[in-house]
Formats: sequence, structure tokens, C-alpha cells
Amino acid sequence: MHLDRLTLTNFKNYESVKIQLSSAINCFTGNNGSGKTNLLEAVYYLSFCKSCFNILDHQNIRIGENYFIIDGDFSMNDDEERIICAVQEGRQKKFSRNKKEYQRLSDHIGFMPVVMSTPSDTQLVYAGSDERRRFINTLISTHDRGYLQNMVDYNRALEQRNKLLKDMVRGGGWDELSLEIWDEALHKYGQRIFEARKDLLTALIPVFQSYYSYISGDKEKVSLAYRSNLHEGELKDLLQQARHADRAAQHTTVGIHRDDLVFLIGDRNIKKTASQGQQKTYLVSLKFAQFELIRKTMNKKPLLLLDDVFDKLDSTRVERIIGLVSGDSFGQIFITDANKVRIDKVLENVTSDYKIFGVDNGTLTSK
Ligand SMILES: Nc1ncnc2c1ncn2[C@@H]1O[C@H](COP(=O)(O)OP(=O)(O)O)[C@@H](O)[C@H]1O
Ligand SMILES: [Mg+2]
Repeated sequence: MHLDRLTLTNFKNYESVKIQLSSAINCFTGNNGSGKTNLLEAVYYLSFCKSCFNILDHQNIRIGENYFIIDGDFSMNDDEERIICAVQEGRQKKFSRNKKEYQRLSDHIGFMPVVMSTPSDTQLVYAGSDERRRFINTLISTHDRGYLQNMVDYNRALEQRNKLLKDMVRGGGWDELSLEIWDEALHKYGQRIFEARKDLLTALIPVFQSYYSYISGDKEKVSLAYRSNLHEGELKDLLQQARHADRAAQHTTVGIHRDDLVFLIGDRNIKKTASQGQQKTYLVSLKFAQFELIRKTMNKKPLLLLDDVFDKLDSTRVERIIGLVSGDSFGQIFITDANKVRIDKVLENVTSDYKIFGVDNGTLTSK
């Protein structure tokens, strides 16, 4: 699967561009603020029907205009697929495949998988645990349709249980029976989510470790720990034991909504001890492992978007990464770099097909 042609109209700083892409490696170089990341974001839109950043659709409309269109022609096996995303101010977003409009955007998710590595992935390290739970949820839901529904059902039960706890404490009463109804629901969905997260990590961790080890030249040992109350017992028992704590806190203090991932180098959290380059290697290796899992479970090679991935990495790590992604395991790649000299050097030893585009203030030149 690859994107042959991408046409943007009024998308961020692009008024109107049409790009013919390489089916292997595509590099975009240009100064800061020229529009490199915007291009990758447009490709991401065609896969996920939304921005990769927490941005509302209409904020991506070029300033002064009132709509944008992202239009992509893909080759999938021997078929051509045309995906169009159109956003107009005050209207509902339109998303179509071969001119047939999707009624539900969720029907499109997974059709053209994309894996993106961006500098904002450091949020995974520095932001709160909800960011890391979102990451694992995304990983699982690309191949497990029932998972998101379990999450919705769990969160609904959690909200009800928390409301009940508050009402009971404030009203001075205690209704054990009503609590148990929500305990049962939380147990049912929570156990499933816990198992799915455990299975996913069991598959992901060794792949992630082998990528890290390859890119770093086997210098450091990394691991990833899954923290969950549910390692200590079944959720229904944990909820029962937490009655007093829940009553005092007026919310539910145990469950998969408290889960977290701990990123480790040796036995230390990478937030505290790893250098920027080591953190970057960690996060990129995680994304490569995500790629590998999607490739295995969906039997499709996702498009790989690497935004400023070489920044902060030493030249050996850069060479190893380019060696990896230009090999047979990966498919079509999009790379951005403000450093044109580095890109030229990186591509010197690459034998697969590639194209380099210069990006300048929303215009593109093929080099
Ligand atoms: N809605 C918009 N309309 C016009 N320009 C925009 C819009 N959103 C972002 N931009 C511009 O896009 C540029 C950033 O592009 P980006 O792709 O992030 O640059 P980089 O090449 O550094 O990755 C900024 O100059 C910003 O002003
Ligand atoms: Mg950028």
C-alpha cells in the first residue's frame, strides 16, 4: 500500500499543491515553519480522519479561507483508492473513499494504517498517565474493534459509580447494593481491558527491545513495565477492599483507569535519567514496534511518517534507522528534516527509490 499522489487545498499554510510521491522514501527538507510537519499531518488525516495533534478540524483551514480539502490517491495491491477529506467551516466533515461518502468515520479507521513518530511523542514521557493509556488504547483498538466499546462501557460505569459515591457521602446514606451493580460492570469490562493490555504488551515489548538494541548498538537495556492494580487480584475483590478509601476520596480509587506504563532504561525511569537522544531512540523504537504489530495483525504495511526523527541522534543511530526503514520490512516512508545536508548524506547509501522535496513557505519543489 502506498500514496501515489497528494493534493492539498487550503490546508494550513498550503494554498494549492499537488505532489507525486515515491512508493519508497520521501524526504521533505526546509526551514522551520516552512510546512514539513503540515504535510505529514495531511497524510495522517487520510488515515485517521483527524489531526495527529489535539487540533480542531477547522483550525487546519488556511487562515482567511473557509474550507480545506486533502485528496490522496493510494495504490493497494492492484487497486486504486481515492480518499478525500473535506472540511468546511460550520459544516460536518466529509470523508469519502472512491467518491462514496462514509456514514461513520470509524469504518475507515484501519483501512490505511499510518504510524507516525513526532517530536511531540515526548508527551508520552512527560505528560500524565492518561497520555500513556491513550497510546496503548490506540495500539489495541487498531486491530481489536471490541476494545473501544469495552472502554466506553467501563468509563460509563466508572462515571456512574463516582457519582453514586459522591451522592451517598453528601446525602449521608450508604447503599451497598447500588455500588455492587457498578462494581460488577467495572469488573466485567475492566478485566477484559486488563487482559487485552497485558497481551498487547507481551507481544510489543520484545519487538520494541530488539529495535532499541539494534539502533543503539546494544549499548543500553530498555524495558517497559505495565503498572496496574489488577496485577494484585480480580477487580471485583479490589473494589470491595477499597470501600473505605473510595468513600473518603469520593471516587473510585482502583481499576484500569489508574493503569500506567513505566519507561525504563536499566532500572530507571527514562524521564529522570535518559539523555534526549536516548529518549528519542526509546520513542522511535516504540513506534517501530507498533508498526511491526500492525503489519502482523493486519497484514498491511502502514505508511511510516518520521517527523524530525534524526534530530538529537548521533550519526550512527541515524544510519541504523535509515538502514532499517529502507529495508524490506517497511513500506512507504515520509521523512522530514530541517537539515538538508544530513538528508543528502543519509540517502547516499540507500539503494531503494527515493525523492527529495524542498519545502518553502507552503510551496514544494522536487529535487
Ligand atoms: N491554519 C493555518 N493557516 C495558515 N498557516 C498555518 C495554519 N496553521 C499553521 N500554519 C503555518 O504553518 C507553519 C508551520 O508549519 P510546520 O509544518 O509545522 O513547519 P515545519 O516545516 O517546521 O514542520 C507556520 O508558519 C504556521 O504559521
Ligand atoms: Mg516540523
